[in-house]
Amino acid sequence: MVGLNRVVLVSGAASGLGLATVRELVRADWTVYAGFRPNGRSAPDLLHGNAIRWLPLDVTDSEARSVAVASIEREQGRLDALVNSAGVNASGPLEEVPDRVLRQVMEVNFFGAIGMTRDCLPLMRRTALSGSPSFRRRSN
Ligand SMILES: NC(=O)c1ccc[n+]([C@@H]2O[C@H](COP(=O)([O-])OP(=O)(O)OC[C@H]3O[C@@H](n4cnc5c(N)ncnc54)[C@H](OP(=O)(O)O)[C@@H]3O)[C@@H](O)[C@H]2O)c1
Repeated sequence: MVGLNRVVLVSGAASGLGLATVRELVRADWTVYAGFRPNGRSAPDLLHGNAIRWLPLDVTDSEARSVAVASIEREQGRLDALVNSAGVNASGPLEEVPDRVLRQVMEVNFFGAIGMTRDCLPLMRRTALSGSPSFRRRSN
């Protein structure tokens, strides 16, 4: 993979595991598309770097997912990897956690991750078939 411009999309990149993943991938020379919910923040408030492109991306919003993937395809023509880091946490005694909170956990952590994966797979498959000799060998 030396010399190859590898492109990754990280969801939930504004904080926590997502932000740590972005930092590591930039260090490893990946071009990183970092999805975040603006929530009054602007991209430059988060983390600077030529290799980081911040994208508004709520993983529960199918339109936002499509726009994000389309812009990666337009700008890079490839997507090598997806990191599903967007997530919410519900903690507390089960009988005290409201259903709406549990449903939001499923919307973000489950359906959001499934939606992201579904939306990214076509471009990731095209990328793998066109750009990686090792993948071509395995798929023959
Ligand atoms: N840290 C751990 O050790 C650990 C261990 C096991 C499991 N987990 C799970 O892994 C996930 C990430 O953990 P973390 O520690 O990195 O949490 P975190 O610091 O709260 O980061 C979660 C990120 O996801 C984003 N997010 C939430 N809802 C989103 C949505 N609908 N669309 C896009 N982004 C969204 C948040 O953005 P906003 O700032 O806009 O809310 C935030 O940037 C959580 O579900 C957590 O429960 C974490």
